[in-house]
Amino acid sequence: MVKRSEVVQAFLDLYPDPDYLEIGVSLGTTLHAVKARRKVGVDPGFKFDVKAVGPEHPDTEYRVCTSDAYFGAAPRDEMFDVVYLDGLHTLEQTLRDLLNALEHLKPHGVIVIDDVYPISYAASMPDLVASKRLRRALGVEKAAWMGDVYRLVFFIQTFCQSLSYAGVAENHGQLVVWRGARPEDAIPHRRVEEVGRMPYETAVLDGSVFGFTALSEIVEAVRATIEGRPPPALSTARSAPGKRGGALPGRHPAAGMTRDERLARRKALKGAGKAPRPRPASPAP
Ligand SMILES: C[S@@+](CC[C@H](N)C(=O)[O-])C[C@H]1O[C@@H](n2cnc3c(N)ncnc32)[C@H](O)[C@@H]1O
Repeated sequence: MVKRSEVVQAFLDLYPDPDYLEIGVSLGTTLHAVKARRKVGVDPGFKFDVKAVGPEHPDTEYRVCTSDAYFGAAPRDEMFDVVYLDGLHTLEQTLRDLLNALEHLKPHGVIVIDDVYPISYAASMPDLVASKRLRRALGVEKAAWMGDVYRLVFFIQTFCQSLSYAGVAENHGQLVVWRGARPEDAIPHRRVEEVGRMPYETAVLDGSVFGFTALSEIVEAVRATIEGRPPPALSTARSAPGKRGGALPGRHPAAGMTRDERLARRKALKGAGKAPRPRPASPAP
């Protein structure tokens, strides 16, 4: 499984002196692992003493506030090459983070969004407390909370035609977003309300919406747009991350599910594999 920091670094390496913004830092596992000219980390509740670690990380600025507070006060000319959105995992917050991040993204920059592919119904619930209660009732102790960020992918696919995106096939489910218009026939017709209520099972059954693609291919597509070349077509997969043709390594997204949930999921994915080839989420030629 490719680490979060490896995905972020793969994109930072595309720029000569990159500027990096991370929304939601927690222990700093990603923020402190990646290399960039300047790093800004935003979190209302850092899980380390930001003053104590300051001298060890002179290239890093810590903003102890919510993403809304940060973006509300950030100078207009504070721009980044790579932005990693990993704060509050709800559709509404992540959508606001995405729209705000686009205002602070350099023309050829990249936004990476975490946890877009929930590993179970409980993990997909937007209410963390309700999610924990359900997991306890099901006896699923270790499952992560990913919230309903998956709905943001449906939103981007439907309403953000000027953005191209692809899911990273080799990990738990991260989405890479960059500027580049998608052709009209790649845009499905959905109502906003439909996206806001998109059920978890649709994410599983229509895995094609995520455009899961090998990281190296996504990097090449972004490199092409930076260099002003036509981007190569992505060999987008139909199913879940780590399952692309069965060839890519990666933790199975069913990890943490009960046996019954795993069986139901396997059946659903089998059905999704028979679906017609998905429309590519690749940039326009
Ligand atoms: C999953 S953790 C981040 C992990 C980190 N990005 C990494 O890769 O190691 C989520 C973090 O988001 C923070 N968070 C929650 N609400 C937030 C908000 N509104 N704005 C920014 N960060 C928020 C939490 O305090 C938590 O530390």
